[in-house]
Amino acid sequence: MTDLFSPITLDGLDIPNRIAIAPMCQYSADDGSASDWHLQQWMSYALSGAGMITVEMTDVERRGRISHGCMGLYSEANEAAAKRALDAAKRVAAPGAKFGVQLAHAGRKASCQRPWEGGGPLKSDEDPWQTVSASAIPFDTGWHTPRALTQAEIEALVEHFATAAERAARAGFDFIELHSAHGYLLHQFISPLSNHRDDAYGGSLENRLRFPLAVAKAVKAAAPGVMLGARISVTDWVDGGLMVEEGIEVAKAYKAAGLAYICCSSGGNSPLQKIPTGPGYQVHLAEAVRKGADMPVRAVGMIDEPNQANHIVTAGRADMVALARAILADPRWPWRAAAVLGHELRVAPQLARAAHLPKKWELAA
Ligand SMILES: Cc1cc2nc3c(=O)[nH]c(=O)nc-3n(C[C@H](O)[C@H](O)[C@H](O)COP(=O)(O)O)c2cc1C
Repeated sequence: MTDLFSPITLDGLDIPNRIAIAPMCQYSADDGSASDWHLQQWMSYALSGAGMITVEMTDVERRGRISHGCMGLYSEANEAAAKRALDAAKRVAAPGAKFGVQLAHAGRKASCQRPWEGGGPLKSDEDPWQTVSASAIPFDTGWHTPRALTQAEIEALVEHFATAAERAARAGFDFIELHSAHGYLLHQFISPLSNHRDDAYGGSLENRLRFPLAVAKAVKAAAPGVMLGARISVTDWVDGGLMVEEGIEVAKAYKAAGLAYICCSSGGNSPLQKIPTGPGYQVHLAEAVRKGADMPVRAVGMIDEPNQANHIVTAGRADMVALARAILADPRWPWRAAAVLGHELRVAPQLARAAHLPKKWELAA
């Protein structure tokens, strides 16, 4: 039976198990370049035992960053810094672990403070910048009002995504994840809440998908040897916003554009969202996309117990599970999962003499 530790192949990329590390912004980059913080973080991810490691939201142009500390792949320096950290992480990684980068643009949610500095829009003395989006609609009261992108700017942005994808491939990433969720630019085009355009990029879902699909196709062409997937918000959790049925259509369109998996998240595009959170609160979205679009999906959101994660896979609700906060708290979580589920995990040989300890601790607990 397929379980959490079964391998999976996505568009030719062999992934040794179904535990993924979800992308997590660290707000610790220097003009988009990975720092020593990223070096230690990626090396820690590399040793975790997770099969699929997704590096944080990484922006395709400088104004696409959420904050002054966000990662980018918009310059040669960014590419060199990412390669330095990735080369080191790959040298120590557990057997077979694969690394991806989440390419993104924050759109109207750019020009913000780091979370620990408040997380709100940058103030006038904090070097803010003009944000852009599908339409000139701010995320919330008091947020920056974005400028609606012109057609020429949209076409230029497609090129920026493609250039960043080339950089990701040269840096050595095994896969790319398009960030099409959480109210960032691709989602801003897809959601009727943030896209009020009356040209070819607005109105019907087909039109609202025009820019994201152009990005998907350009990225695929720019990095042909790199597996490509996307994270989407399957629903906005707001009346009048994106609903699950449309979310499934988004997944189908990405599948037709050659994407190999969808990570099923939700929300992030409106302060009016009402999200019924709780353990595994987005798994039903992954299940719906898996059935509706007939493609591999990754479930995410408050999945932090080994049996819970395993059951999602064995029950066929999702093909993979992604963990975010649980990995920050316990970077060896996959070792614990292996101990609980009775699986022998191949870890880096230098660590092998300690691999039995989580099992002892589980039995003692
Ligand atoms: C510190 C932190 C940074 C995050 N950054 C990103 C990001 O860069 N891209 C993204 O799609 N989601 C991001 N998220 C959301 C997570 O990937 C994940 O979807 C969410 O935390 C729910 O999973 P969890 O319950 O396992 O934490 C972030 C979450 C945290 C806690």
